[in-house]
Amino acid sequence: MVSHANYSTVHSLGHTHLIEVSEKIDTEQALCYRIHADMTTYGHLMNQPNFSLLFSGQQIAERVKELALQIDEDYQGRELVMVAILKGSFLFVADLVRAVQTPTIVDFMRLASYGSGICSSGIVEIRKDLEIDIKGRDVLVVEDIIDTGQTLETLREKLLSRQPASLKVCALIDKTGSRSGKTPIDYVGFSMEKGFIIGYGLDLDERYRDLPDIHLLDPNGIS
Ligand code: IMP
Ligand code: MG
Repeated sequence: MVSHANYSTVHSLGHTHLIEVSEKIDTEQALCYRIHADMTTYGHLMNQPNFSLLFSGQQIAERVKELALQIDEDYQGRELVMVAILKGSFLFVADLVRAVQTPTIVDFMRLASYGSGICSSGIVEIRKDLEIDIKGRDVLVVEDIIDTGQTLETLREKLLSRQPASLKVCALIDKTGSRSGKTPIDYVGFSMEKGFIIGYGLDLDERYRDLPDIHLLDPNGIS
């Protein structure tokens, strides 16, 4: 059970539920809650879109370990600069940076291609730039999800103009269905064709980044 503000997230039978916690009670175990309300799916609770579980936190953790092994093999004897793209990749980079053995420096950029909602605006805005100089460095861009590839294209041009020794891309999710095609992605966690997902850093209008699993939005389920 994972505490989530006044609610606790419970995974059962492949579903995620939020349980209202009415009071914390003292027992010999550090975390013991008296459950007040009945289990409610968070979609219903928040009167928000319906989601289904797509990748569990455990599946993600296993895949992150595999990616890290691959990265370690490719960067032997080198120091890596991971450029994490905010906000979506904050959890992914936190896990990845701890899973790799390769010495790694982390820096962040903030790019926004979605104003709000679930459709790409096509406009990529740079809201925060790197603080370190990447000239002559081995740079690995860490992205949450590549959709049309527009964000990545803009970023690639900008980073290449700073003359890194190498530039590769690691994306947790490759959404293959909406891409024009040319952007190579060197390390991919999971591929999916289409659909809108949330959780593990991914948001819908800034919500749900905090969920440990990745969920798929049911396109017919918006209430
Ligand atoms: P692109 O420029 O179309 O490749 O868009 C990439 C960015 O859009 C990602 O870094 C995300 O911030 C956002 N995005 C694309 N698809 C999704 C999704 O399914 N859920 C949440 N954010 C998404
Ligand atoms: Mg993003």
